[in-house]
Amino acid sequence: MSESNMPRMMEFSEKGDERGYLVIVEGMQDIPFEIKRIFYIYGSDKDVVRGNHANRESEFVLINVAGTSKVKVMDGRGNETIYSLDRPHTGIYLPKMIWKEMYDFSEDSVLLCLASTHYDAEEYIRDYDTFLKIIHGEA
Ligand code: TYD
Repeated sequence: MSESNMPRMMEFSEKGDERGYLVIVEGMQDIPFEIKRIFYIYGSDKDVVRGNHANRESEFVLINVAGTSKVKVMDGRGNETIYSLDRPHTGIYLPKMIWKEMYDFSEDSVLLCLASTHYDAEEYIRDYDTFLKIIHGEA
C-alpha cells in the first residue's frame, strides 16, 4: 500500500467568525476522491459495533460532525490502528480493502460518511476470514 493509500486523519478548513463555524470538504481537493454518496449514522448505543466490513471498491472519509466515536482499522497484515473522531473539522480517510469497525459512539454522535462510490452491496466483504484470504491472495 503506498503512503497515499493508507488510512489517515485529515484536517479540514474551518471558517469561524462571530456567527459560528463552517467546515469545507471538497472532493478531489480536501479529500482524494469525488464524492458520490453521503450517509450518516446516529442513534447507535455505546456498546454497538458497526462496520465490520471491508470494501473492494469504495473509499470513505468519516467525520463526527457531532459527538464522538472511534474507528478501528485493520489491513489484514497485522497492522491495527484506532482513531478517535472527536472534532467536526477532522476526519479519517479509509482506502479500499481495509477492515473497519466503528464503536464507542457518544449519545450525540452523528457520524458523516463520504463515499467514492454509489452503493453496491456486492463490493462489501462482511466476513473477516474472507477478507484475510483476499488480502493474502488466497481467494
Ligand atoms: P451497514 O453497511 O450494515 O451499516 P454499517 O456500515 O454502519 O454497519 O448498512 C446498514 C443497512 O443500510 C444495510 O441494509 C445496507 C444499507 N445501506 C444502503 O442501502 N446504502 C448505503 O449506502 C449504506 C452505507 C447502507
